[in-house]
Amino acid sequence: MSKNIVIAIDGYSSCGKSTIAKALAKKLHFIYIDSGAMYRAVTLYFLRNNVDLNDHDAVTSALKNVHLNFHSRDYQSHITLNDEEVSEEIRQMPVSELVSDVSTLREVRVEMVRQQQRMGKSKNIIMDGRDIGTVVFPDADLKLFMTADPKVRAERRFKELMLKGEDVTMEEVFDNLAHRDYLDTTREESPLVRADDAIILDNTTIDQAQQLDFALARILPLLQTA
Ligand code: DC
Repeated sequence: MSKNIVIAIDGYSSCGKSTIAKALAKKLHFIYIDSGAMYRAVTLYFLRNNVDLNDHDAVTSALKNVHLNFHSRDYQSHITLNDEEVSEEIRQMPVSELVSDVSTLREVRVEMVRQQQRMGKSKNIIMDGRDIGTVVFPDADLKLFMTADPKVRAERRFKELMLKGEDVTMEEVFDNLAHRDYLDTTREESPLVRADDAIILDNTTIDQAQQLDFALARILPLLQTA
C-alpha cells in the first residue's frame, strides 16, 4: 500500500488557511482537519463549565469530559462537542476572546496533539493550525506557512462576522486578531513559528485560485511518488 500523505498548513489567524485547506481537500479527496476548531471546542466547554484556567487539576479533569469528533459534509468540516454540533458557536466572539489563553495550556496541547497525530496515521489529510508542521507532524510531506497583511486579515474577518449578523466593530476585530497573533507567537508551549522547511504563502494580494495553483503545483508531484 502506498504511504499516506500529510499536508500541514500553519499561519496567523484569519489568513485563509481553512479556505485553501478545504479547497485542496475537495480537489484531492483528502480529509480536512481544522485543528483550531478543536481548541475552540475545548474553549467552549471550559466557558460553559466555568473551568478555572489557572487550576491545572480542574483543566485536566475537564479535558476528560471533552469528546470531539469531525464530520465531513460537502468537504465542510463540522465539529461536535460531546455529540452536539458546535461549528457555529465556536466562531463567536466569547470563544474567540478566550481561545488563545486556553491554547497556551500545556495539558490542553498535549491532548490535542495526541488526537491530531492519531487522525493522521493512515489517511491522506490536510490539517491547518499553528504547530502542525513543527510539533504535530514534523515529517509532513508538505508544509505551507500562510501569512497576510494584518489589516487585510481583519477586513476579511470583519466581513465574515457581518454576514453572520454579529455585533462587532472593525476595531474590535483588528484588536482581537492582534492580541491573538501576540499570544500565538509568544506563548511558551508550541508558539506559532514557521518550520524551517515550510513554504511561505503570502496571500495579501493574491486570490483563492492563485493560492490553489501555488499549493497544487507542490502537492501533485508528491502524489506521483507516494
Ligand atoms: O485557527 P483558529 O483561529 O480557529 O484557531 C483558534 C485558536 O486556537 C488560535 O488563537 C490559536 C489556537 N490554535 C493553536 O494554538 N494551535 C493550533 N494548532 C490551532 C489553533
